Amino acid sequence: MRKKIVAGNWKMNMTPKEAVSLVCELRDKFSNRDVDVVFCVPSIDIIPVVDAVKGTDIKVGAENMHYEEKGAYTGEISPGMLKEAGVDYVIVGHSERRQYFGEDDECINRKVRKAIEYGLTPIICCGETIQQREEGITLDFINKQIDAAFLQVSAKDAMKCVIAYEPIWAIGTGRVATSAQAQEVCEAIRLDIRKLYGEEAASSIRILYGGSVNAGNAAELFRQPDIDGGLVGGASLKPDFCEIVNYNI
Ligand code: G3H
Repeated sequence: MRKKIVAGNWKMNMTPKEAVSLVCELRDKFSNRDVDVVFCVPSIDIIPVVDAVKGTDIKVGAENMHYEEKGAYTGEISPGMLKEAGVDYVIVGHSERRQYFGEDDECINRKVRKAIEYGLTPIICCGETIQQREEGITLDFINKQIDAAFLQVSAKDAMKCVIAYEPIWAIGTGRVATSAQAQEVCEAIRLDIRKLYGEEAASSIRILYGGSVNAGNAAELFRQPDIDGGLVGGASLKPDFCEIVNYNI
């Protein structure tokens, strides 16, 4: 049985004070013991948020990191810095990083391997554009993104990773994928992992759906056999996030 994960991705929102106030408002309202709750927050919010979740089961994630350990990379944050700050998860390859910051498959693969080396769990994002969906090449495209992200990653390490399927056309648009569309792609991702690593890895890796998840659609999405939770953007900044986590209570 795979434990569900609901991870909030705050993106570039929340000053440190706002961050602490949101976490204090939400932290005691997660009553679903079958879900791992993660707040993925901007770098400057990490330390205050780690402090604010102390004594709870909530985990903290970063939204990005560099694949190098240190050096002349102005503005970047290293895996060692995240680890020491108390971070457990890191989002890698979000479509906004690919689109606005030029991250390619090779860069994403380096980040995945470095995160694993530092004991951070990468949440590896993949997802097609609306054009790719209309052309009927979604599954091929996603499989290529997954294969590239897992290059030189062992089966033992792959099992510990989390994958987030986020169709780009559903991100921040209010146009959620139907549960059938989301399930189809998540199932294909699991089949790809089976091909790469075998049955044990395929049945243990957690695959999330992201893209306009809200309190009204989460339960139906999370009931799908290959969807193990969600990566939530906009709704993670509001009390709705608790309702999403508590979806089956
Ligand atoms: O990482 C989260 C996704 O980009 C989804 O964002 O829930 O605002 O559509 P959204």
